[in-house]
Amino acid sequence: MAARLVSVPVPFLLLLLVVLAGSRAALASETVEQVCARATSGGAHPDLAPFCVASLRAAPGADGADARGLAAIATNLTLANYTAAVATIKTLERRGGWTAAQQGALATCCARYIEALNVVHSAVHALAVGNLRDYAADMAAVAKAATDCEDAFGAANAGGGGGASSPLRKVDEDAVNLTTVAALIVGSLEK
Ligand SMILES: *[C@@H]1O[C@H](CO)[C@@H](O)[C@H](O)[C@H]1NC(C)=O
Ligand SMILES: *[C@@H]1O[C@H](CO)[C@@H](O)[C@H](O)[C@H]1NC(C)=O
Ligand SMILES: *[C@@H]1O[C@H](CO)[C@@H](O)[C@H](O)[C@H]1NC(C)=O
Repeated sequence: MAARLVSVPVPFLLLLLVVLAGSRAALASETVEQVCARATSGGAHPDLAPFCVASLRAAPGADGADARGLAAIATNLTLANYTAAVATIKTLERRGGWTAAQQGALATCCARYIEALNVVHSAVHALAVGNLRDYAADMAAVAKAATDCEDAFGAANAGGGGGASSPLRKVDEDAVNLTTVAALIVGSLEK
């Protein structure tokens, strides 16, 4: 037995390992791309495919996850993003130096993101129990919070004559993009 094992050429074993590892990695990365391509194709958001791939690739556990797993990961990423957004808004509020209108916009943003956080929790639950209709409604409300925040700044800056861009533009865009990606992946599960 031992003699037979030893007789397998070591280079062959190494080659086999390399080929197996390589094909597994190729398969896994293909899955994220395929899931993102299918989720974003044919709808209103074909341009979100690169954002979808980049966000999911950075998430632990995404390699080798199937579409259902990626849907859960994207939803959890949304939860983490909204949690971080609330912290960012509070930091900006503490920093100060805002006009009254901008302070009002920050307060609106803070309130809307905190509301949205509760709704993301509800979406996580809806997904877990397979209630995709509730999930879609929840995620639409979640994305609306981020656009409302951005709109609040648009109005504040227009009124104040500052013309400065929203300090939360990237935060709001990430939030909307992530929410949209998660909802699109979940929507693609039904097809
Ligand atoms: C959000 O997605 C759009 C494409 O739909 C992209 O142009 C934009 O840069 C993304 N925003 C962020 C903050 O990555
Ligand atoms: C929100 O998600 C985007 C996309 O995955 C990521 O680039 C960004 O760093 C996240 N923001 C925070 C504050 O975690
Ligand atoms: C998503 O988050 C929930 C709640 O924290 C957790 O139970 C679940 O394992 C997470 N799923 C993935 C795929 O990360």
